[in-house]
Amino acid sequence: MDFRGLGNTCVIGLQWGDEGKGKVVDLLLADFDVVVRYCGGANAGHTIVVGGEKFALHQLPSGVLRPNALNVIAGGTVIDPAVLLGEIAALRQRGVPLGDNLRISDRAHVVFPYHRREDVLAERAARAGEKLGTTARGIGPCYADKYGRHWAIRVCDLLAPDRFRARLAAVVAHKNAYLRGVFEERETFDAARLADEYLAFAEQLRPFICNTTTLLHRLLREGRQMLFEGAQGSLLDVDHGTYPYVTSSNSGGGGVASGAGVPLAALRSVIGVIKAYTTRVGAGPLPTELNDATGDRIRERGREFGTTTGRPRRCGWFDAVAASYAALFTGPTGLALLHLDTLSGFEELRVCVAYRIGGQIVNEFPSDTYLLEQAEPVYESLPGWSEELGDCRRWEDLPAAARAYVRFLADRIGAPVRLIGVGPAREQTILVADGV
Ligand code: IMP
Repeated sequence: MDFRGLGNTCVIGLQWGDEGKGKVVDLLLADFDVVVRYCGGANAGHTIVVGGEKFALHQLPSGVLRPNALNVIAGGTVIDPAVLLGEIAALRQRGVPLGDNLRISDRAHVVFPYHRREDVLAERAARAGEKLGTTARGIGPCYADKYGRHWAIRVCDLLAPDRFRARLAAVVAHKNAYLRGVFEERETFDAARLADEYLAFAEQLRPFICNTTTLLHRLLREGRQMLFEGAQGSLLDVDHGTYPYVTSSNSGGGGVASGAGVPLAALRSVIGVIKAYTTRVGAGPLPTELNDATGDRIRERGREFGTTTGRPRRCGWFDAVAASYAALFTGPTGLALLHLDTLSGFEELRVCVAYRIGGQIVNEFPSDTYLLEQAEPVYESLPGWSEELGDCRRWEDLPAAARAYVRFLADRIGAPVRLIGVGPAREQTILVADGV
């Protein structure tokens, strides 16, 4: 497999996350020089296998296992130093070196324990039906501070100890007052202790910190091939997703420009990753959700449990209205369709091709999440197949019904499927050079 010809590439999920981006990135990595995380933080979850042992990464880019790849955590992300340093230490313990192959943006924002606390308390206080089901990693509160500006702290601030101590004292006083006043929180944060802790983190992170924007532009000029690793999925994008049931960053492709400081014109390929069915963790509308034995069967066969929180994922049939909408604002040049093997053994497969909302047929993905919650899926049925697909390696090896299913999804989304996943292992992949 040679992916050198793709040029600078972004890998983006076209659903609600967990589409299998990790496997796609892992396959492409050998042909890329630089791997960039441009949005989100420790809410992301990506499992890698080190020495036969499974290992979940949340903050680190996926290229850390490739000796020649430079891993960049860009300015659009939020960084929890405790999580990041924990991952670095755990990898080092397993003999995976991290040094010159990791760079962290001085512009990224820093997650503090008060962000995590606020995340938990806000969810607890939300009325039934209004809880977002966040990962409790402090992501929303940290991005809220970033955009509010008054109480934000960036990585570069950690490198100026006196200024940082003074700023953190003011921020913590505000946070304590807020947590006490709004949530009647009795325990408060000690600014001096927190400053000591974070300055110690900063010393460990210092060798990795730099201006990643200028670094990436230098590498672009040198002709290095870059892989931008999307976190979460497009439908969790704060601007274009199912607001407010989204994450707090631009997890759609737009995040590459804003988060990494690399203009979109520098991208040659956008790989939209879809799963052969739909899943979602956390709250929010999911029109094709199956709260029945079929949903349970998909969950069991697809091993659909969250990497970050361990929560069982909500499962349903493929929603072509939602995925086509995501394709509109992400612009995939090709699709990677994963977990096709999970659908073996179903007599009939369904694909949602429109919604019925208030008695009307709607073909467009609604902006109003309340309307999406009312949406009943309008399905087209396709014949299933009984064969297990794990050993298929070529397009021709797939049963005719599976090929018809893949073609149907590609037609609906309007982009060619170029890669098909038929199992978790790297070799359980079918490449279709010309696309389906
Ligand atoms: P937050 O990003 O922790 O604020 O969570 C907001 C929503 O995004 C919740 O529904 C989470 O379950 C979801 N979410 C956040 N990160 C991921 C991810 O990496 N995969 C799938 N869902 C995610």
